[in-house]
Amino acid sequence: MSADQFSSGCWRRKNPARLVFFFLCLWSLISFSRAGRLSASRQKLEVQKHLNRLNKPPVKTIQSPDGDIIDCVHISHQPAFDHPFLKDHKIQTRPSYHPEGLFDENKISTGHKERANDITQLWHMNGKCPEDTIPIRRTKKEDVLRSSSVKRYGKKKHRSIPKPRSVDPDLINQSGHQHAIAYVEGDKYYGAKATINVWEPKIQQPNEFSLSQIWVLGGSFGEDLNSIEAGWQVSPDLYGDNNTRLFTYWTSDAYQATGCYNLLCSGFIQVNSEIAMGASISPVSAFRNSQYDISILVWKDPKEGNWWMQFGSNYVLGYWPSFLFSYLADSASMIEWGGEVVNSEPEGQHTSTQMGSGRFPEEGFGKSSYFRNIQVVDSSNNLKAPKDLGTFTEKSNCYDVQTGSNGDWGHYFYYGGPGRNPNCP
Ligand SMILES: *[C@@H]1O[C@H](CO)[C@@H](O)[C@H](O)[C@H]1NC(C)=O
Ligand SMILES: *[C@@H]1O[C@H](CO)[C@@H](O)[C@H](O)[C@H]1NC(C)=O
Repeated sequence: MSADQFSSGCWRRKNPARLVFFFLCLWSLISFSRAGRLSASRQKLEVQKHLNRLNKPPVKTIQSPDGDIIDCVHISHQPAFDHPFLKDHKIQTRPSYHPEGLFDENKISTGHKERANDITQLWHMNGKCPEDTIPIRRTKKEDVLRSSSVKRYGKKKHRSIPKPRSVDPDLINQSGHQHAIAYVEGDKYYGAKATINVWEPKIQQPNEFSLSQIWVLGGSFGEDLNSIEAGWQVSPDLYGDNNTRLFTYWTSDAYQATGCYNLLCSGFIQVNSEIAMGASISPVSAFRNSQYDISILVWKDPKEGNWWMQFGSNYVLGYWPSFLFSYLADSASMIEWGGEVVNSEPEGQHTSTQMGSGRFPEEGFGKSSYFRNIQVVDSSNNLKAPKDLGTFTEKSNCYDVQTGSNGDWGHYFYYGGPGRNPNCP
């Protein structure tokens, strides 16, 4: 009951004890709204405390055209160093080892009409971060308030890892997450790479999202599942808009207590001053028009054991320290590449939230979204073509995946779809 309903109830009452009732009523009305004010101010305080933890004092601030504020924070003041285990950590400025691949990103693709073009982040239009600082997307009050609670802000709501071999129908039903992926398992993996076509899929409901990413997984699908994830996403709830953004995620306990998106908790140590996690990437691909893609490489440094991430052909972003993980402290047991959306089934029908370009794989280049040059890092730390690439999708009439291989693109797949359509009601 709201305070308004309560007060109109006070006035409407008509009987001999009206006056007594009126004062009683007035008294409870006052306490009611005071309690409301108290809890509102307590929430405000809690939000402010959380913002103070996340947003470190900047050396310089850059206003991005998309409304983001990018804070250039001194590298040793980043959120990672709030972690008790990282108090005396010596920052690794570069990995001791970089796996060599089969493909040179700068090589011009000849098999297709259009070469994938260079891509940057939107905030670069308005400035650069100085040396020894890292760019951090500032978290605003509205960002935290959109979350179900201050504690859950920046964390995934559900376990949402596609589980190809033994799919649990209840899990799919409960979470409403849908995938179209390619995967390998059954070996020890020390990294993964792919070049991912970038689009801006339409999201039907603000509480849904659409992403395209690599999953580096360790352990079985139990409570202690380890995961490192990186790719692009559109998530109105997390960012407050429909822009396509670069993101990472990690967890060491199947999305329960540990881990978060980007730098929204202590964990990932960033060393790069040019790329901001969670910032918009631009431009994005257009139907039957220019295609853009990003390369992502995640690999384990054989000497220090840390998991590094590279964006494009020359941005080494930083690393997840090995101690954050249990299984991944050794190696990964499964790699997945592909798309995921949330289907919240508004009005009991399948959502029309798009995956990839919103088109099915059959449509091919320039229309459907792709992953190309899919590779894994093997036990001798070399990039290799994946062996026995499997595919998985919950409902291929909603979102689908089709693999292939050729000289130019190595192993690749097209994936995605429109969601709701006559065959996906
Ligand atoms: C939920 O699971 C049941 C099988 O357990 C299946 O028949 C049904 O289609 C599922 N519903 C959705 C929305 O996926
Ligand atoms: C995001 O897109 C949806 C439609 O896909 C639209 O209704 C909504 O207003 C957009 N949100 C913003 C913040 O632009």
